[in-house]
Amino acid sequence: MIHYKFPANFIWGAATASYQIEGAWDADGKGESIWDRFAHTPGKVQNGDTGDVACDHYHRYVDDIALMRQLGLKAYRFSISWPRVLPMGRGSVNQAGLDFYDRLVDRLLAANIQPFVTLHHWDLPQALYNVGGWLNRDIGLDFADYAILMAKRLGDRVQYWTTFNEPGVIAFDGYLSGEHAPGEQDLIKARQVAHNLMVAHGYAIQAMRATCHNLKLGIVLSQWNAEPADDNPASIANAERAWNTGETTFLHPIFQGFYHPEQIAAAEESMPRIHSGDMALIAQQLDYLGINSYSRSVYNSNGYVATIPGSEYTEMRWEVCAPALRRLLKRISTDYRLPPIYITENGAAFQDEISTDGKVHDPQRQNYLKNHFAQACLAMQDGVDLRGYFVWSLLDNFEWGHGYSKRFGIIHVDYETQKRTIKDSGEWYSRVIATNTVE
Ligand code: FCB
Repeated sequence: MIHYKFPANFIWGAATASYQIEGAWDADGKGESIWDRFAHTPGKVQNGDTGDVACDHYHRYVDDIALMRQLGLKAYRFSISWPRVLPMGRGSVNQAGLDFYDRLVDRLLAANIQPFVTLHHWDLPQALYNVGGWLNRDIGLDFADYAILMAKRLGDRVQYWTTFNEPGVIAFDGYLSGEHAPGEQDLIKARQVAHNLMVAHGYAIQAMRATCHNLKLGIVLSQWNAEPADDNPASIANAERAWNTGETTFLHPIFQGFYHPEQIAAAEESMPRIHSGDMALIAQQLDYLGINSYSRSVYNSNGYVATIPGSEYTEMRWEVCAPALRRLLKRISTDYRLPPIYITENGAAFQDEISTDGKVHDPQRQNYLKNHFAQACLAMQDGVDLRGYFVWSLLDNFEWGHGYSKRFGIIHVDYETQKRTIKDSGEWYSRVIATNTVE
């Protein structure tokens, strides 16, 4: 049996996001977000599901932190709902909302769990969307004000801050495929949103650095390695092109200060409008990079391959391919001068059920995690500076356009009763954390 041993200070955690777990969508003065509006619009989310109640974490965070403690988590990554603290996105502050995050952080620290805060995991205040949303560059200044508000309030206790979770999904699922809020379908807009999000990231990092000290600031990017299906030169070239024109969208500007030339060439008239000074603003020095990675994308000589014969697929129809995680980490660490890396999301959706013994047996998820942890350990042996790993997700939750149909949790949630049950994978994860070893 092979033992994969992790460093003593390795940070094992789990992740969630506000809209996916909090519920309490209009409680205590919270404003409306674009996800409230989207989910309340018939036809947008599977089964008509909404985040109105979700896991009711807003009211159950004390019990949820007790479960985190039972698992032995060293860190917890969560996001703040911007309209909960600033109902209109700017201007008057909702004290009750701020107090909630205050209590959450205090409770985590009392349980010896380090908070990792994400400022924006997609639930933009509807009021800001009404004045142009991310297509309006000035929203970036509102975002910086919001960042300062939170950093001033929690920065004495929270060290790790992320500006955006997966700006690519905000831009391309929200403005191109339309499968996410706000549900637009326009390539030119999507590209401009992607650019403006990076500008907003730059503003926020600058503002937080100027107002608060000793914070660790970063961003979380979704990266899936683009790989050839075979060694045909055309397959290799297609995978390479997909990486250069797609996966570099945020990495290149943030860590090199310019867009990849091949992306610019391929984009033609859909390149965003870039103001002078933008690229320097975007390329702020960061203290860490968060990587969310679940799978890879594969190309043969004809292009993208949706199904690889013989591969296992999750409920999301995402291929299970743990070695791709190691290759991804090596690639980005070679191509860019990166700060320390955290895997901020990795996990899998499978069909789980409470079995007759009252437990949730989820060997596929446990295998998935085990193999990905092992590959992360090998990447560290290759020299990748990986400091921590957050499993997606702590709880089964609202999986965006899929509603509650996809379960990613290491804790099962019965949405009727809100009863939580730690799955087998969760029990196994707590042993990994306790021993710092994967077998
Ligand atoms: C990521 C999101 C996260 C969750 C997982 C499955 O793209 O950041 O909220 O939905 O996918």
